[in-house]
Amino acid sequence: MASSTLLFPPSSDRSRFKTVLWISLGLTSLFVFITSEALLVTDYPMYHAYRLQVIADRLLLIPHTLGGVIALLAGAMQFSSRLRERHLKFHRILGRVYVISVFIGALTGVALAAGRPGLPGTSMQAAAWIVCTTAAFITARNRQIAQHRQWMVRSYAVTFTFVTSRVLNLWPLYWSHLGDTFAAVGLIAFTLGTLLVVELGLNWRKLTTHRA
Ligand code: HEM
Repeated sequence: MASSTLLFPPSSDRSRFKTVLWISLGLTSLFVFITSEALLVTDYPMYHAYRLQVIADRLLLIPHTLGGVIALLAGAMQFSSRLRERHLKFHRILGRVYVISVFIGALTGVALAAGRPGLPGTSMQAAAWIVCTTAAFITARNRQIAQHRQWMVRSYAVTFTFVTSRVLNLWPLYWSHLGDTFAAVGLIAFTLGTLLVVELGLNWRKLTTHRA
């Protein structure tokens, strides 16, 4: 397969690529759910101090988690071509649910980080989440479907940073670096890096094919 077709292959290969991608994202989410969230609930010793913080933050964390989980699931469903083609009205309703969930998740995320070293990073992440999602909503309303799709990819990539930023949690060195310095700059770098990878993916064909 030519390198230009690796990320966005034509026709039949495209659906195989989407299947592999979504299976990988699903398995990664499952891995993170077990190694981060389930272990947090069962009071895994390494997470103990953070667990106490999570319990103290529960009033904000409940709407935050609900918003985030709904965005994670609704966002994934929005990429289904079959669902879009067969149930356009449902796609539009779910799109609004996604937008509202992102706003709830982002605003409560900033409130959670208020007064902590992670505030600049979280604010940047929340801003990226809101800007990409709002752009996806506006382009959908204006029937700019190609741009709508691209902004949804960017928006969902920010949604998915919840998963990707926790993949290494079980590695003590990574976890112990989640101190003040990491919190201050790590999230900004992570969000920018994520969006950079998405841009490479979205532009892969143009980057790797020579115009005739
Ligand atoms: C799929 C999207 C998201 C979900 C499902 C989600 C869910 C959660 C959960 C369950 C926690 C507590 C346990 C843990 O840290 O693993 C948490 C913590 C936190 N989340 Fe999110 N989140 C999402 C995205 C975001 C985003 C994009 C931001 C930034 C705006 C954010 C900001 C925060 C902050 C600051 C905390 C720390 C709370 C504390 O200090 O107690 N989250 N999130």
